[in-house]
Amino acid sequence: MAIRAQGVAGLPRRRFLQSFATGTAGAVAVQAAARATPPATLRTLAGSRPLIGAAVPTNFSKQLSHEAVQILAEEFDTVTPENAMKWQSLCPEEGVYRFQPVDSLMTLARDNGQRVIGHTLLFNRDGNYPDWIFRDRETEADARLVWRRVETHVETLMGRYEGRIDSWDVLNEFIEPHGPGYRVTALTRVLGQTFPERLFKLAASIDPKAKLVYNDFALEQPNRRKAVVAFVRSLLDRGCRVDVVGNQSHLESDVDVGEQMDAMIKEFAALGVRVALTELDVDVISRKLYWNPETRPQAIALNPYVDGAPDDVLKVQAGIYRQVFDAVLANRNQVDRVTFWGVTDAQSWLNHWPWERVNHGLLFDRDSKPKPAYRAVAEALAAGG
Ligand code: XIL
Repeated sequence: MAIRAQGVAGLPRRRFLQSFATGTAGAVAVQAAARATPPATLRTLAGSRPLIGAAVPTNFSKQLSHEAVQILAEEFDTVTPENAMKWQSLCPEEGVYRFQPVDSLMTLARDNGQRVIGHTLLFNRDGNYPDWIFRDRETEADARLVWRRVETHVETLMGRYEGRIDSWDVLNEFIEPHGPGYRVTALTRVLGQTFPERLFKLAASIDPKAKLVYNDFALEQPNRRKAVVAFVRSLLDRGCRVDVVGNQSHLESDVDVGEQMDAMIKEFAALGVRVALTELDVDVISRKLYWNPETRPQAIALNPYVDGAPDDVLKVQAGIYRQVFDAVLANRNQVDRVTFWGVTDAQSWLNHWPWERVNHGLLFDRDSKPKPAYRAVAEALAAGG
């Protein structure tokens, strides 16, 4: 496939990857190796430690280009449905389930020899569950009814795919972003704060072999991590099985994170829990201005890389990816998986979140060509940590 032979910096991709295996051996040896062995990809370079994955949009056969589908098949060990399993997408009305997109992804993964990640059983953010769960005819549903609906949802979704899911994000974003304690949402207002224990135990009983994950964001930051460590420890103390903590890892290229990632992995390992980077991308347009309400209008006007990101920007981004993978590989037995949140820049959520702009956060550009970030990750994997 022509597009896949294109490398960064003019080198055919196959050649620059194979040069890791063959060192500085001459061109003849490289060509012979290229004939003898299949091209190295992220998944072969990583050797399943960690697993390497990508998120896949709901209607992937329409939303992904032919080249992106090829990349998905070749480069990744796991696939995560980006939205298709979320409660509001899966079950917009009581009793009405839209399983078809997930079923199609299961088939694709089987054909590619990939594992599927379940994302996510319960997402503690308004908008990530359907409104009907809070209604009881003309009145508001009480805690018993809402919990019964959670149980039915979990039993239906996990039960359908039992034995075919590598790991489940059991609970997403339970902790309050700006403080200790849990995030107040429509869900926690009704259910309170003790249901995570019941949820993890329910999940463990339905699919005893699937890894169970608590997933949240910015855990590389010490404050956020402190709250989540305390939360996960309390679940473990209550006899829950939590195998993995997922750090979403929606990073920015102006923040060095290598040391923090290293500290994060070690801290969860000390708890007896492995780490996954579940939604990795590296934004090249700083989001700082956006989070301050006074400067938000300035942020929303920012769209600097409509015609592509300049080389120096892509180089800095590649450096962040390298830091992340160096930290991962230095602790590789403690890291279950690294999943990129999308395949190419063309369909990355960073084009829309937290405001609309042309973004460049992933390893492959809009033409499905590998970027300097791809080379950085491949080199880190080849070096092995
Ligand atoms: C995002 C998707 O990428 C978008 O397409 C969707 O519009 C909103 O959700 N944390 C999560 C993911 O756990 O499910 C979110 O995915 C990104 C933040």
